[in-house]
Amino acid sequence: MTAPAYPHRHLLGIEPLEASHIQAVLDTAEALREVLDRPIKKVPALRGKTVVNLFYEASTRTRASFEIAEKVLSADSLSIATSTSSVQKGETLLDTAKNLEAMNPDMIVLRHSASGAAHFLARHCRSAIVNAGDGAHEHPTQALLDALTLRQRKGRLEGLRVAIVGDVLHSRVARSNLWLLTKMGAKVTLCAPPTLMPPGIETLAPTTSRIEEAVEGADAIMMLRIQQERMTGGYFPTLREYHARFGLTEERVRLAKKDVLILHPGPMNRGVEIASEVADGPYSVILDQVTNGVAVRMAVLYLLLGGAEAA
Ligand code: CP
Repeated sequence: MTAPAYPHRHLLGIEPLEASHIQAVLDTAEALREVLDRPIKKVPALRGKTVVNLFYEASTRTRASFEIAEKVLSADSLSIATSTSSVQKGETLLDTAKNLEAMNPDMIVLRHSASGAAHFLARHCRSAIVNAGDGAHEHPTQALLDALTLRQRKGRLEGLRVAIVGDVLHSRVARSNLWLLTKMGAKVTLCAPPTLMPPGIETLAPTTSRIEEAVEGADAIMMLRIQQERMTGGYFPTLREYHARFGLTEERVRLAKKDVLILHPGPMNRGVEIASEVADGPYSVILDQVTNGVAVRMAVLYLLLGGAEAA
């Protein structure tokens, strides 16, 4: 296949991308997705390329889907869990990356708790860097897979009304989706308790602390995980009260459009930000998001590692 235009060496975030670059990733993911339905899910596009998955934070979906995408495209890859690496002996991020680079990989996929960690590696390393989530800053491949899911189901992104609801303050998923959806012409409303809404974000999108207002007439509702591991204070009284005020229930889903889509990046706190009946209900596309995660990560690997030359 001929790769559409994606002019960047790295994928560090959605903010620096233009709509045409986002389109290029989505179109490539759409084209590569059929490989996953073949009896033998393997193409030689990235034969001879080496990818290091370097994860400083826990992950199920992102890490597994990068690993599967690398195998399907025939890249050689290895995953470093920092809990069993020399990070435990105090080695810094830069020393770790430099030592891995001494083994000559073509790409490092990085998840890190510090905002800007992927940008830092991009400044100091010669490998292509993919941000697999940096602190509360960005999670670009998540927004891309969310967009692919919306586009498949709705046929477009432009003009869609999307409510993003929950712990916006700590959410890199919310930030990347806000950038992506607004660049692609969707209309985003952010909803969170005032304590979990970042100051100043109302310059980028309308905000509300009433979930009913956010979801009314929505084409899609993206629920965000309450990130207790990043909370240092009391942002709301109890999880039970949070669910009562901000949880997505069947009753609240009925305020949205009849063909609304329900998304969640996972992992879910069932009974907190989302009721189980909604997570497992007819409007949920949560597992489609996971499937599309493999296709989007294949597209990112392919575009950044010059798959067009090898295919
Ligand atoms: N959505 C997401 O990033 O999930 P993981 O933390 O399991 O990778």
